[in-house]
Amino acid sequence: MSFIVAIDGPAGTGKGTITEIISKKLNLVNIGTGSAYRCVALAAIENNINIDDTEKIVDLLDKIKIEFKKINDKDLIFLNGKDVTKRLREKDVSTTVSKVSLIKDVRFKLTDIFKKQAETRDVIMEGRDIGTCVFPNADVKIFLDASLDERIRRRVKQNEELGIDMSLQEIEENMRQRDYDDKTREFGALKQADDAIYIDSSDLSIDEVVNKVIDIINVKKEKIKRE
Ligand code: DC
Repeated sequence: MSFIVAIDGPAGTGKGTITEIISKKLNLVNIGTGSAYRCVALAAIENNINIDDTEKIVDLLDKIKIEFKKINDKDLIFLNGKDVTKRLREKDVSTTVSKVSLIKDVRFKLTDIFKKQAETRDVIMEGRDIGTCVFPNADVKIFLDASLDERIRRRVKQNEELGIDMSLQEIEENMRQRDYDDKTREFGALKQADDAIYIDSSDLSIDEVVNKVIDIINVKKEKIKRE
């Protein structure tokens, strides 16, 4: 049986960063599910498909291949064989991905892909609905949160590091819109699972969050050993 860690929470809470660090420390396969939704949005953009054309986007799903790979200790994501890790963070993808993630068939298809990733390997998976829909029986569930101001500040810093040009206003609007879409969609809405542990990272350093989560994982592993 695979060991599964589910990390959910809104955009900009540091899920991606802490998941990557923990995956290396504990040798877990790191699956950033938001990147998969971003791949579908990017494929739609590249194929000139209108983001409101649900039927065409669903058809596209059969033509795209999404792969999660670790190369030189870096987690990379490939769309049809091409490394799109950085491209997925660009403005056009960030502003269209919410709509793509509302489409029921997109969610079902990607959820299947995510489940397959954990069939034979221990994973740490981050997203919005991992502890509620993708792996309701995950061994460890964390709901990572932070204040809106702090999340915007982090996204500004991340964009600077990646060389992505987005104004503060654009970042804030995008974040508010995605919060709204994430919380109100019909399937896979962002919601804390009843058995998830809540962590507010607003005033915590990355190391502090990482250590908290690792402690929780270790306690669970010990418990499984004793059973
Ligand atoms: O975590 P992120 O910002 O890369 O996620 C991109 C988008 O994908 C986000 O707007 C919500 C969506 N998403 C989702 O609907 N379900 C998930 N499990 C992960 C992300």
